[in-house]
Amino acid sequence: MMKKITEYFVTSEAHYLNRRNFIKQSARLGVGLATFRAFSSSAEWMQGGGLSDKMISTDYGKELALNSFKEITNYNNFYEFGTSKRNPAKNAHTLKPKPWHVKVSGECLKQGDYDLEDFIAPYQLEERIYRFRCVEAWSMVIPWVGVPLASALKIFQPTSKAKYVVFKTLLDKTQMPWQNRPTLDWPYIEGLTIAEAMNPLSLLVVGLYGKTLPNQNGAPLRLVVPWKYGFKNIKSIVSIHFQETAPLNTWQGQASSEYGFYANVNPAVDHPRWSQARERIIGGGSFFSPEKRKTKLFNGYGNEVAHLYTGLDLVKNF
Ligand code: MTE
Repeated sequence: MMKKITEYFVTSEAHYLNRRNFIKQSARLGVGLATFRAFSSSAEWMQGGGLSDKMISTDYGKELALNSFKEITNYNNFYEFGTSKRNPAKNAHTLKPKPWHVKVSGECLKQGDYDLEDFIAPYQLEERIYRFRCVEAWSMVIPWVGVPLASALKIFQPTSKAKYVVFKTLLDKTQMPWQNRPTLDWPYIEGLTIAEAMNPLSLLVVGLYGKTLPNQNGAPLRLVVPWKYGFKNIKSIVSIHFQETAPLNTWQGQASSEYGFYANVNPAVDHPRWSQARERIIGGGSFFSPEKRKTKLFNGYGNEVAHLYTGLDLVKNF
């Protein structure tokens, strides 16, 4: 079983990299991305797994060196499938990402239960390469496929009372067997201020490396907010709720002295049990001498997001 998965990972990555080269060559030859747009229809995004023909390339993170598909899909935090990094890849096959519904509720005019295909269909899928920094002080670079969260939220017409957006993961002990254990308070919950949610960097993700999301990475729908620690990037979302007050997110509820609401990447604010000044690059260096680098404020996305926190004490509001 493992061997088969490994072969699949390798093949998929090779296809992906070929496609990237093809796009680069096409660009050089003057064949615009419009060619790809012509094939784009996010309505078909769930059929067959491949998203390459349905997404457009963007400039986000083009200069970054990618982690491999194997690294991204074999070193995961998804406590619904176990607490070790290897567990999700082994155990998440019990998750059934299709069909999938998302309930939209609270302070908005268009509440309802939406089939995921309808939910995503109106938008152009985009590929965006983002840095990913876990609160545990490791990092990766991941080519996500998704839609801007702002576009997806605006359609529900949030009211003036919608100050926060709260996301919930599926609660289903059959599909997510570790929900039978009291490791965390289930379901996993995360939230953003409405301004953070509407920031152009915030992405609702349905794929990576040009394919639909593998189960262990949060299929079929997850949040990606690259200037925040990884735990804000909630997986397998079934509920989006607009509300006036700040929610208690799962990790804050678990240990409020260690994990806050904002969770902005910040090398100057250490975790009570370890430093946040540096990060270990997954796949870099060796086991005995891992490659590290300095962590940047807002994970390097300060130009895009620093204005969201003007006047806010980032030490108190960690
Ligand atoms: N979402 C759910 N539902 N359950 C989780 O355990 N872990 C979080 C986040 N989203 C988690 C979750 C943490 S701690 C991290 S670092 C990222 O997912 C990991 O995402 P990845 O496995 O795709 O790298």
